[in-house]
Amino acid sequence: MSKIDILQASRIPPFLTDSLQAGFEVHGRETATPEALARVRAIVGGGEARIDAALMDQCPKLEVITICGVGYDGVDVQAAKARGVPVTHTPDVLNDDVADLGLALLLAVSRNLPAADRFTREGQWEKGPFPLTRKLTGAKLGIVGMGRIGQAIARRAAAFEMDIRYHTRSARNDVSYVHEPSLKALAAWADFLLVITPGGAATRHLINAEVLQALGSQSFLINVARGSVVDESALIEALQKGVIAGAGLDVYADEPRVPAALRALPNVVLTPHMASGTTQTRKAMSDLTLANLQAHFDGHSLPTPVPECRG
Ligand code: NAP
Ligand code: 8YV
Repeated sequence: MSKIDILQASRIPPFLTDSLQAGFEVHGRETATPEALARVRAIVGGGEARIDAALMDQCPKLEVITICGVGYDGVDVQAAKARGVPVTHTPDVLNDDVADLGLALLLAVSRNLPAADRFTREGQWEKGPFPLTRKLTGAKLGIVGMGRIGQAIARRAAAFEMDIRYHTRSARNDVSYVHEPSLKALAAWADFLLVITPGGAATRHLINAEVLQALGSQSFLINVARGSVVDESALIEALQKGVIAGAGLDVYADEPRVPAALRALPNVVLTPHMASGTTQTRKAMSDLTLANLQAHFDGHSLPTPVPECRG
């Protein structure tokens, strides 16, 4: 029997590539011919994959879209639903790693760890001590987004005795942290403002010049959500002018390109969208992606459809 044709729409973890190639006829986005696209029954991609209506139109036999990532802001879910195509993602299995990296960035910016490492390596210590940094334990942490990952971050921050408040559109009744309906007020209160919302139109440039002004010159921004949530030009200007003290960023507006102006700043810690990037978690994400794909073709219910495709 011939294998089911699937389209790989973006880079995915190697474990997933191996499993897909063993069980399916895998076509690459750049190399798939129109004839191959016409046979495609599933699209698989990472969280950054752009899967729009035009691509779906090229795949008239499309039955399911499985994303190896929790964020699916690159997928036109309404276009998929209009074609009767469910979309799946990989929630929960990456909460620990993303929260861990959020805390790592909090510690890195507050204690200026990359500069301290360079200072020690370059022998500068022999000329004098490293400048004093900012204490993290007990500081005020504002979290923008209090979903699966936001809560995992808050639990870790609580171990650092941080005073935690959060901003979301709706207050949660299952957490004890103070809900702040105004993002600007949360920024004005916080020593550290950490962003962990979904991307997409609804959160585009949520963190703008006004919010950064409210955050203030002694406070730091951490973004582990999506680059689109922060107005990157406004952030660069705020960092250059000392409107905020510094930033820790895992995500950018136009990945993998990071503006030279941002890379040149001394008061930022930059990581390459690696929050879920451990072997253990990428394996778990790959397994869940494959489980969704397999469930679809076995006629079983999907383990983790995106909220818009549930029920
Ligand atoms: P989740 O459980 O759906 O939580 C999302 C949270 O964001 C909710 O508390 C939601 O509350 C809030 N939110 C949504 N829209 C908002 C808005 N306009 N203003 C304020 N708050 C808003 O999602 P999750 O599993 O925690 O994941 C969150 C996101 O993290 C993902 O979508 C992805 O973009 C990002 N992520 C990044 C990495 C990385 O590698 N850096 C890895 C994994 C995930 P309300 O609905 O009440 O507003
Ligand atoms: C992935 C992510 O690195 O899950 C997400 O939303 O941003 C990350 O876990 C990304 O999906 C790449 O595949």
